Amino acid sequence: MGNRKAYIRIEGGEEIELPVLSGTMGADVIDIRNLGKHGLFTYDPGYVSTASCSSKITFIDGDEGVLLHRGYPIEQLAEHADFIEVCHLLYYGELPTMAQKQEFDFVIRHHTMVNDQVTSFFKGFRRDAHPMAVMVSVVGALSAFYQDSGDVTDPLHREISAHRLIAKVPTIAAMSFKYNTGMPFAYPKNSLSYAANFLHMMFSTPCEEYVPNPVMVRALDRIFILHADHEQNASTSTVRLAGSSGTNPFACIAAGIASLWGPAHGGANEAVLKMLEEIGDVAHIPKFIERAKDKKNPFRLMGFGHRVYKNFDPRANLMRQTCHKVLNELGAHDDRLFQIALELERIALEDKYFIEKKLYPNVDFYSGIVLRAIGIPTNMFTAIFAISRTIGWITQWDEMISDPEQKIGRPRQLFTGPEKRDFVPISLRE
Ligand code: CMC
Repeated sequence: MGNRKAYIRIEGGEEIELPVLSGTMGADVIDIRNLGKHGLFTYDPGYVSTASCSSKITFIDGDEGVLLHRGYPIEQLAEHADFIEVCHLLYYGELPTMAQKQEFDFVIRHHTMVNDQVTSFFKGFRRDAHPMAVMVSVVGALSAFYQDSGDVTDPLHREISAHRLIAKVPTIAAMSFKYNTGMPFAYPKNSLSYAANFLHMMFSTPCEEYVPNPVMVRALDRIFILHADHEQNASTSTVRLAGSSGTNPFACIAAGIASLWGPAHGGANEAVLKMLEEIGDVAHIPKFIERAKDKKNPFRLMGFGHRVYKNFDPRANLMRQTCHKVLNELGAHDDRLFQIALELERIALEDKYFIEKKLYPNVDFYSGIVLRAIGIPTNMFTAIFAISRTIGWITQWDEMISDPEQKIGRPRQLFTGPEKRDFVPISLRE
């Protein structure tokens, strides 16, 4: 961990010595844990410069556009692995052997069904409820079902919760879609792969079998891989914070789904598609670019910018390739929205504002176009992100619980409200 020191000198006061910790890669961090003893806290809204934990799972170098899961580059995983292997890698720390993969795959396939009582929750929702609203509630409701594995201090209980979540979140997502469209639920089919099974649950009906196209299955599997984990992003930090009190894992993942839903995070893929529809024609792009640059206008180019990536998002490059593959397969390369996206990317990458602020297309810029080509309706895009990120959330949650340094998350604040004052009876208030 190194033995460098950092010093804080308070004007007219003492000098405080703080250890500097080094990881295996990435920026060093100043260990400020003892600062509170000196009556001082750090101030960092949005945690822009704060490492909230130590982690062995995912490494990002935002300047170089590097994303590694347990050391493996995302490009290699997206090219050579499938989502089930990536889940194994994230949760257990190693790529599986053939036998381990078969066993893990078997376990996940045999946890896909939800308790039949779960179906009755759906009936309480309006038919037009957003699938993410339904998922927050129904995934949270799973916490009422598994009394056999509720001890979060037991690694085996945590493991079975992880298996259940990886297997059941796609089932719940597909049920949310079926309910939304007034169709009967489709039971999972354990003979199918993870991605093919999801497409089956989305699109098969009692009257018609759905035969998944292998190119679409591979594209969806790649979307799952590219969204699987992303170190301490908003939803993952939410899961860690919720879990830091020792609460139930299903409740923690429901909290992660809630955080993911926002347009600044996982909701961006849905927002990108809506934006492309609104632009409508390449001729209108300059008007939208001007709106995005106008300080007085809250509009942002959705799918552009990232807190960590300041050169390029490696996931966006891979998603762009997938987009080409899928549209080629469908013979839809002249797809109107894809053409608008390409032109928008070209103009934004040449524009001084976007260059100076280091705003590049992120993973969600292209994922919406791929999902739309697969036939997924726009309001399901963020639900698909939630399916993919469940493995990241549950792995990070497990790592947190196993960490001997783990404490309940409890940030401090810089108070800027009124000083102490006396109560005034209502009859005397002006
Ligand atoms: N369009 C126009 N201007 C932008 C954009 C954008 N998409 N993103 C950032 N900016 C500007 C922003 O106005 C600010 O300008 P100034 O310095 O003059 O005030 C500057 O760039 C820095 O922005 P910020 O909001 O301080 O940066 P952040 O790190 O807090 O936010 C972000 C990162 C991803 C929330 C933001 O870039 C954004 O809102 N992008 C659009 C939404 C989006 O695509 N989100 C998906 C992120 S990737 C998938 C995921 O992780 O969920």
